[in-house]
Amino acid sequence: MAARFLFLYATLLPLATAAPSDLTQADVAKRLKDELWERNPGHQMLKSWNGDPCSPSSWEGFTCGSKDGSLVILKLNFSSKNLQGPIPAAIGNLTELNELDLQDNNFTGSIPASFSALKHLLKLSVYCNPFLSNKKPDGLSTGVDFSYGGCAAEENLSPPGAASQRIIVIGGIAGGSLAYPIFQDCSIHKTTNPEVQQLSLKSIQNATGNFKTLIGEGGFGAVYRGTLAHGQEVAVKVRSSTSTQGTREFNNELRLLSTVRHENLVPLIGYCCEKDQQILVYPFMSNGSLQDRLYGEASKRKVLDWPTRLSICIGAARGLVHLHNFAGRCIIHRDVKSSNILMDHSMCGKVADFGFSKYAPQEGDSNASMEVRGTAGYLDPEYYSTQVLSTRSDVFSFGVVLLEIVTGREPLDVQRPRDAWSLVEWAKPYIREYKIEEIVDPGIKGQYCSEAMWRVLEVASVCTEPFSTFRPSMEDVLRELEDALIIENNASEYMRSIESTGTLGSNRYLSMDRRMFASGSARIDATTGNLQTMPSLPR
Ligand SMILES: *[C@@H]1O[C@H](CO)[C@@H](O)[C@H](O)[C@H]1NC(C)=O
Ligand SMILES: *[C@@H]1O[C@H](CO)[C@@H](O)[C@H](O)[C@H]1NC(C)=O
Ligand SMILES: *[C@@H]1O[C@H](CO)[C@@H](O)[C@H](O)[C@H]1NC(C)=O
Ligand SMILES: *[C@@H]1O[C@H](CO)[C@@H](O)[C@H](O)[C@H]1NC(C)=O
Ligand SMILES: *[C@@H]1O[C@H](CO)[C@@H](O)[C@H](O)[C@H]1NC(C)=O
Ligand SMILES: *[C@@H]1O[C@H](CO)[C@@H](O)[C@H](O)[C@H]1NC(C)=O
Ligand SMILES: *[C@@H]1O[C@H](CO)[C@@H](O)[C@H](O)[C@H]1NC(C)=O
Repeated sequence: MAARFLFLYATLLPLATAAPSDLTQADVAKRLKDELWERNPGHQMLKSWNGDPCSPSSWEGFTCGSKDGSLVILKLNFSSKNLQGPIPAAIGNLTELNELDLQDNNFTGSIPASFSALKHLLKLSVYCNPFLSNKKPDGLSTGVDFSYGGCAAEENLSPPGAASQRIIVIGGIAGGSLAYPIFQDCSIHKTTNPEVQQLSLKSIQNATGNFKTLIGEGGFGAVYRGTLAHGQEVAVKVRSSTSTQGTREFNNELRLLSTVRHENLVPLIGYCCEKDQQILVYPFMSNGSLQDRLYGEASKRKVLDWPTRLSICIGAARGLVHLHNFAGRCIIHRDVKSSNILMDHSMCGKVADFGFSKYAPQEGDSNASMEVRGTAGYLDPEYYSTQVLSTRSDVFSFGVVLLEIVTGREPLDVQRPRDAWSLVEWAKPYIREYKIEEIVDPGIKGQYCSEAMWRVLEVASVCTEPFSTFRPSMEDVLRELEDALIIENNASEYMRSIESTGTLGSNRYLSMDRRMFASGSARIDATTGNLQTMPSLPR
């Protein structure tokens, strides 16, 4: 449509001289081409750029429109053009530019200071340029829809358009140099979400019996259990007075949590900031954290069965998918771990702890450095070494959680022999050699369908690939886990039907060799419980 419009006008309108002083727009476009050519010689698109950028038809990637009787360049879209080198400073002289899309290239350096001259700019995307500094140019209007972020390996796996997301980081920035838009006055939030209520300190003291029952201690501060006046059970997080980070975290969490809502994310329901107290109120998750249930105190009382572990992880995966696709933007949790996956009364898994949350540094500060954050044992090695953050870092951490539900082991345990400190390093050789029996949590041995188990282990393996390029998206992970649960439930049903005839005894089902199972040739001998090979599975 735009092209037809342009063609029509191109023949009628004089060419523009929209650039400052004596530079014509065509001169600027030529400079732009030269700047790009230097690091991209022979580039197909650049080669096609000849003559006037808007006339007789616009150059590839250019969109022109009429303004005051002239044709001006309104939009540049060089997304996914495989361009490298610095972003051309000449773009700063296209003063009528509304939109600039440079996403999914390999631009390096930083965004040119000349961009501050783009007074009509509404949209700027440099998303998915892994080597580009995230620094927002000084003087760029705060109204610009600015998308950026490393997105190291997003290209191959994201659906088209998914890359045009703004990244919001949850999970924290430890860099002390960051200037945060801090809410001096919590009343700002009265308007953000009616589901989040402002509570008085008195009512919180009343609800918690004056902070009587301590149920946890996190980076943010202590967590107490309580009951609100209308009977709702709550977890109350109180910022510790010694924590300087807490102020930022508090404000960030408040902002993010008041907008992010999903079945599988623990919602913020209230807050209080009276008398220098900073308090966040969440619904109480009565079944604790996945970590507690795997190897904490609670696990000693009652072992969490395999299908439940799987369904909790499916819940958490859904929550993360929601974050990664949040409102057309992208939120990265950055601290995915089993202690941040909580279970409600019906054992629905929910992702918690947005305590280190903040919007990514686009919020006005140009002096932003993203310090690596996360929890030892869960940290994406690529993110750690490059500081380039993408959703695939959450995927890595989630893969570690999957290994935890299989093995019942902590991700990092220095009490163990050196080669078993890291769960990922320890488990992978066994997985490669199909020796799952040796790594499966003794508490669920013989209680799982091996095909479902293999699905999970395969996903866990790819999630924890050292290079983010080889990791799946959270959507892919979710799909695999859902399949695994279907297989698991189907197999349980089948086994129950055998059990009810009394032939299998106490052995519900044993692990089978994956290769045999996959070829449909494995079964369990109903009398001995031993693995047998057969032409096909019995119905
Ligand atoms: C740029 O082009 C790509 C691919 O054609 C498209 O997906 C994207 O939405 C465009 N960007 C803008 C800002 O229109
Ligand atoms: C933009 O135009 C001005 C005025 O002609 C010139 O001084 C400046 O060098 C130009 N900047 C770029 C990056 O081309
Ligand atoms: C992107 O640019 C960086 C820095 O110049 C370089 O090291 C890297 O190999 C480039 N990547 C690709 C895919 O071209
Ligand atoms: C304090 O707690 C009591 C009983 O637990 C309740 O009746 C009362 O409404 C509470 N007051 C406030 C201010 O929440
Ligand atoms: C989860 O919590 C509910 C209610 O608090 C309890 O009845 C149930 O037994 C718990 N489930 C497990 C598996 O512990
Ligand atoms: C970042 O901020 C610090 C202190 O505010 C200052 O010393 C430093 O020069 C700044 N760096 C940049 C690149 O602006
Ligand atoms: C369910 O199990 C039966 C027999 O065990 C098998 O034939 C069928 O393909 C399974 N269905 C699914 C969806 O896995």
